[in-house]
Amino acid sequence: MNGLSLRPMSEDDLPVLVQMEQHLQLAPWGRDGFLKETDQGGEVWVVTDDETDSRVFGYVVFRKSDDAWQLLNIVVDAESRRKGLAKEMLRKMINLAINSQVNAIQLQVRKSNNAALQLYQKMGFGITRVQKSFYSNGEDAYHMDLSLSDSEPQIRI
Ligand SMILES: CC(C)(COP(=O)(O)OP(=O)(O)OC[C@H]1O[C@@H](n2cnc3c(N)ncnc32)[C@H](O)[C@@H]1OP(=O)(O)O)[C@@H](O)C(=O)NCCC(=O)NCCS
Repeated sequence: MNGLSLRPMSEDDLPVLVQMEQHLQLAPWGRDGFLKETDQGGEVWVVTDDETDSRVFGYVVFRKSDDAWQLLNIVVDAESRRKGLAKEMLRKMINLAINSQVNAIQLQVRKSNNAALQLYQKMGFGITRVQKSFYSNGEDAYHMDLSLSDSEPQIRI
């Protein structure tokens, strides 16, 4: 992530995140969706450029609990894909989970979302089950899980 940094979302980022959702997602989150997660203790991290700290290249949203964290959303803007940004966001999230002694990270992904599926499998997630008609358009979901119970704490986070 040369020249880019990962930091928690601020309210100033919200218009950009909502715009990215509208352009890049089948079922876009609105402003309230992001605020609901942060209000309830969830994390929204954004990748921005070091120069202006305002251009957003990607973001990840996850919910924390004592046992298993839920990865709720991860997006990289269309021009910045296949450069390892999603992998890097996930790597940092996973390291934080390991250091927080969490047992697992779980997620759901559309069966048709090959890019996300490949990404998650590359990061070590496995499919645990298929849920029929999970999404509002009737599409099935893969439930995926990354077990962390045997992972050693990481020094770099
Ligand atoms: C899924 C998404 C976040 C991946 O972001 P990215 O920054 O391009 O991913 P990375 O560059 O870190 O890719 C890491 C690995 O994921 C896999 N991958 C990523 N995009 C892929 C694609 N289009 N096709 C196949 N594999 C892909 C590859 O294994 C890749 O490693 P490689 O480039 O060495 O082959 C991005 O495509 C996106 O924003 N999609 C729209 C939003 C979305 O569907 N989010 C998931 C919601 S569950």
